[in-house]
Amino acid sequence: MVTATRRFEFSAAHRYWRDDWSTEENERVFGRCTRPYGHGHNYTLDVTITGQLDPRTGMILNMRELKAIVSEVLEEFDHKHLNEDTPYFRALIPTTENIVRVLWGLIAPRLPTGVRLARLRLYETNDLWAEYDGADEATFARAYSFSAAHRLHAPALTDAENQALYGPCNNPNGHGHNYTVEVSVAGPIDAESGMVIAMPDLDATVRAVLDRLDYHHLDREIPAFAERPSTGEHIIVYLWDELAPRLEGRLRHLKLWETGRNMFEYTGPATVVTGRSERTDIHHGTHDYP
Ligand code: NI
Repeated sequence: MVTATRRFEFSAAHRYWRDDWSTEENERVFGRCTRPYGHGHNYTLDVTITGQLDPRTGMILNMRELKAIVSEVLEEFDHKHLNEDTPYFRALIPTTENIVRVLWGLIAPRLPTGVRLARLRLYETNDLWAEYDGADEATFARAYSFSAAHRLHAPALTDAENQALYGPCNNPNGHGHNYTVEVSVAGPIDAESGMVIAMPDLDATVRAVLDRLDYHHLDREIPAFAERPSTGEHIIVYLWDELAPRLEGRLRHLKLWETGRNMFEYTGPATVVTGRSERTDIHHGTHDYP
């Protein structure tokens, strides 16, 4: 299946609040997003389409045509207050999950015959996005950071072999990284909160796992790395094993940046994918998305 993606941007204000919930409940679930006048974001929307390649043009759809269709939809959102200025969020909380689903309902029927919306991914910030593909479930992802020291050293190898294999990463006293983990969860969008998972619950769950590593030496202080080298591959599997049971079946994907250039992905037992990126715009714990 060939897909084509075009990126769009819009800026909008929003507020999370349910009149039928107490102030305490609103604040517990929505936090700062309950503030009365709202706040705003520069949203980034990746629109991915698929369909038959037109044999004459070699395209699924002319990108200029896609741009015109989606831009017309986004006019209603750009430089607006989503709750106040659009009709879609009177009863619906304008969470990233709900916004992306509303956009799906507006964009999908406008595409010409033979062109199909494959997925929409909406970034509220670089560290937070939701994805929807028309099914019952949505995906929500948020990135978190921790900083830790480690040393790459395999007990099964001799000192000389370790030195040859890991080079400077085998330094006996260790070195350290600002690690970033992107946690993707999937499930139905809760009708009341508008979320796949209440964000304070996700934050607390992930932080509890990461705080055990944050500002520690992985090999010397974390039993899981006493006998196996603290490679990105082993760390991401460790994180999966810690997070999956706590997230009760909703964990779908983990992405771990050891540095801006070394990135690891894991979707659960049986598959480990590693990637070495040539991107250079990722430094010191901040990161970007392709
Ligand atoms: Ni917001």
